[in-house]
Amino acid sequence: MSLSPSAHPHGVKTVIVPAAGLGTRFLPATKTVPKELLPVVDTPGIELIAEEANALGASRLALIVAPNKQEVLRHFEHFPDLVETLSERGKTDQVEKVQRAGKLMTPVAVEQEKPLGLGHAVGLAESVLDDDEDVVAVMLPDDLVLPMGVLEKMAAVRAQLGGSVLCAVDVPREDVFNYGVFDIKDIPADCGLDSEDVKRVVGMVEKPDPEDAPSTFVATGRYLLDRGIFDALRRTQPGKGGEIQLTDAIETMIQEGHKVHIVVHRGKRHDLGNPVGYIPACVDFGLSHPQYGPALRRAITEILAEHEAAETSAGE
Ligand code: G1P
Repeated sequence: MSLSPSAHPHGVKTVIVPAAGLGTRFLPATKTVPKELLPVVDTPGIELIAEEANALGASRLALIVAPNKQEVLRHFEHFPDLVETLSERGKTDQVEKVQRAGKLMTPVAVEQEKPLGLGHAVGLAESVLDDDEDVVAVMLPDDLVLPMGVLEKMAAVRAQLGGSVLCAVDVPREDVFNYGVFDIKDIPADCGLDSEDVKRVVGMVEKPDPEDAPSTFVATGRYLLDRGIFDALRRTQPGKGGEIQLTDAIETMIQEGHKVHIVVHRGKRHDLGNPVGYIPACVDFGLSHPQYGPALRRAITEILAEHEAAETSAGE
């Protein structure tokens, strides 16, 4: 089915969400629960991604999942029995919570048989695209980029400059080895965009050693990619870690003359992919939560004071 452009204000219909990882850093929880369903306060990470994709005006989530790992898809189902039970009990707020994910996005499962890399995962999603889709978004569900809205800024840059647009953050040089790193140039001063926050990308390299990194601007889980990415991915050989890297396909496109820009995100970021990022995300969302915030603030203050007192007495 092809939808009219007005249904997709930024021209993005499909958001690709790679979710086929083993979640090893969350074992034993991830023996049975996919990492993407772990709750940030009460809402699974995948629903936060769906909310952001919906705000961009997209309608389809292409979820890349491992074989027999379709629980993430179930989160978008309708649960009529649960809705009925809650409705009978007058729990309208909870009914809304149950129904929300399914109203945000239509999920489509794409199976990745083997974990051959992020580039491989993204490449598989081509099979679910309609012919009229000339741009796709990729959202990595480990990365929460806050406040939401960076994809809309990226779409505005694409509308003005064309090509592909990625989200970047500026990190300390010693951290660049965890990321895809951009080689950048300033944009012309007269192009009407803020040259502090929008840069032209002239190269991209996956997880370089800090001393070899072309800059400290790194990719952070939000990509608006021209459909040509699929052709580039087909021609991409295994790279860093023996995996097919999305970064390498983007580098190919750049070297072949495709325009790529970054929007520099200066707000907050949480990495839901490991406990040291996930727990602060829960605390951050929890403290802002109208219902739980005040009690959580008291509890955390108390816990911190207890730990500090224990540390002080241990040091005496
Ligand atoms: C992936 C990408 C990397 C990007 C990062 C952002 O790496 O390969 O280029 O900077 O996501 O989170 P991963 O975190 O999967 O190792």
